[in-house]
Amino acid sequence: MEETMQRKFDPRVFQLGYVALETPDIVRAKDHYAETIGMTETATGHEGESYLSIGYEHHNIVLRQSDQKGLGHLGFQLNPGTDLRELVGELGAFGLSAQIKSDSQPGIRELVEVEPVPGTTLQLYTDIDAPAPGFKRTGVSPLRLGHVAVISPEGPKLKAFFMDFLGFWFTDTIAGISNFITCNREHHVVNVVSMRDNRVHHIAFQLKGNASHAMACDLLAERGLPVKWGPTRHTAGHNIAGYHYDPDQVLIELYTDMDVFIPELNMCEARPWHGHYPMTPREWKLTELAAWETEFAFSLAQA
Ligand SMILES: [Fe+2]
Repeated sequence: MEETMQRKFDPRVFQLGYVALETPDIVRAKDHYAETIGMTETATGHEGESYLSIGYEHHNIVLRQSDQKGLGHLGFQLNPGTDLRELVGELGAFGLSAQIKSDSQPGIRELVEVEPVPGTTLQLYTDIDAPAPGFKRTGVSPLRLGHVAVISPEGPKLKAFFMDFLGFWFTDTIAGISNFITCNREHHVVNVVSMRDNRVHHIAFQLKGNASHAMACDLLAERGLPVKWGPTRHTAGHNIAGYHYDPDQVLIELYTDMDVFIPELNMCEARPWHGHYPMTPREWKLTELAAWETEFAFSLAQA
């Protein structure tokens, strides 16, 4: 086989499905995701966990009462037809022990759970119920859950798992600390942040359109939640992004206009606001987070 043969873009998963968070105050957290973000509770678990949907799938956020805030797990949807038993075998060959969990949560009958690095647990599933509770007309009311940024002291190993096992592609890095990888047409679905901590850096919801940022900011202000950074256009990904904290100080990003990745060309679709053509994976500096070069008092890099 020729060395020059192109890699095929063929990840095992195609989207981030849900993020599970542990919270010391589930009533307060639920109020944020249900009323401020505008999600609908579709079920509660045996231990009082709350399952919240943006509008279609059974859940996109799961909240569980705990002593302190923390990242529970991340759910990724596998390509249809993936055999979960074979997947466990392949994970084993990759050096990871994984287990199949049946009826571990409402909405998903069977999933594979794996912890590629200590502190980051992934749940992989092919099917999730879609009760379609509908999109709320109140709150931020986003379109979808888009990506998650995870901080891990074992960033390189976590990134290697996403890329070498799950088939994600690398699209950009900020100083080697933030590493953007994707399993679909969006510039990033996961941002692996290599730092000495084990937590979620931020969870990102896509808004309907650029005008939605202003409405979201007004709504956040009404509810006493300051916008900490943005809205402005990022460099890596070129998404217009605004960030606020949920009541547990988990950073939430609201974004639009994310770069569209073309795996066939290993570049993002050209846009008028790109400063580089072609927009291929590159290394950005920590001082160039905002394409508009606005400086914010809040340090996103140290959040
Ligand atoms: Fe983000």
